[in-house]
Parts: sequence; C-alpha cells; structure tokens
Amino acid sequence: MKLVFATNNKHKLEEVRAILGNRVEVLSLGDINCNDDIPETAETLQGNALIKARHIYNKYGVNCFADDTGLEVEALNGAPGVYSARYAGESNDSQANMNKLLQNLTGKNNRNAQFRTVIALIINGEEKLFDGIVKGTITEEKKGDSGFGYDPIFVPEGYSESFAQMDSDTKNSISHRYRATKQLCDYLINSL
Ligand code: IMP
Repeated sequence: MKLVFATNNKHKLEEVRAILGNRVEVLSLGDINCNDDIPETAETLQGNALIKARHIYNKYGVNCFADDTGLEVEALNGAPGVYSARYAGESNDSQANMNKLLQNLTGKNNRNAQFRTVIALIINGEEKLFDGIVKGTITEEKKGDSGFGYDPIFVPEGYSESFAQMDSDTKNSISHRYRATKQLCDYLINSL
C-alpha cells in the first residue's frame, strides 16, 4: 500500500516510516512532484489537517494524510493553538514565539499546557482523524537547546526536564506527534 504524507519534513517522514516499517510505502510531497504552498486557513488543527489532505487527495487522486500541531495553554484559553508557528508574527521565529508566550503568562499561577497533533487520513475518499496529546507545564524560563519550536519552555507531565533538555529518542517516544502517528499506524495495520 502507498500513502502520501503531505509534508517534506524529513524528520516527520522518518518517524512515520519507522513506525510503519515496510507494510506501507510512505511518499512525501516531493515524491509526487507537489510544490504547492497549501494555505492553512482553518481556525482549528483538524481543519488545517483536512485542508492539506483534501488538497492532495482531490488534486492527485492518491490516498494520503496530513498533520497539524499546536501548543494549547490553559490560562490563555488554548492559545497559541492553531497559530503556534506564527504566534509572534509571520516569520515563524521560535525565540519570539516563546518570549511572547512567557510574557503572556507573567504572574499566572496556572501554567498547564498541552501539545496536540491532529492527523487527517483520506483513503478512497473516506476521511478519518487521529489525535495525539502530551500534557505538561510551561516553565518560567527557557531550558535546554535541543529540539525546536516551544521545546525549551515545555516540561511534559512526569518529567522534570523540558523537551529541549531530553535526548530526541526520549522526546519522540512520548510526544504528541508520536502518539498521533501511533494511532494512525495502528489503524492502518488493523485495516490492511
Ligand atoms: P507543525 O504543524 O508541525 O508545523 O507545527 C506548528 C508549530 O507548532 C511549529 O512551528 C512549532 O512552533 C510548534 N511545534 C510543533 N511540534 C512541536 C514540538 O514537538 N516541539 C515544540 N514545538 C512544536
């Protein structure tokens, strides 16, 4: 079985291929010569994942899936959420995004947050959604320099280090993306 993953992110492709093994051949957007800049205009993670998957399915007629991720902070009513990449502006600057988040949490006691990844799968026109969540807290200051995005200010539940202080294997074994991907893979394996 072949499935297109609507991404060119090598890290994400490797993660999915590692879980699926050789049961499913996972192709990237590059593999189908798609250079489209698919607009992520929805107001929810589900909406954006569906926009990307539907774009690929409708244009190329291939079974496919797409993901979208956000950091949801309780005291900020779920912000930055679907706007996580561009929280501090269109330049997708992680340092600026973290600074803005820390600033907006100044003086707040509730620092609970969660990363959420949504994956939208379309097989033969049938759509399915998968959700992966990791709960945790936002630190008072940045800690560690591994990973990317908001990793230096997020400590997952049950741990004392931030994602950016963990080795990548540990982070990848508990992450939101891993959990959503695992659900997708379990579904695919059971339906093959
Ligand atoms: P995307 O949907 O995977 O592109 O993620 C959107 C944004 O969420 C990214 O630009 C990052 O700011 C943030 N993000 C997603 N996954 C992670 C993660 O594992 N660690 C830290 N930040 C993340």
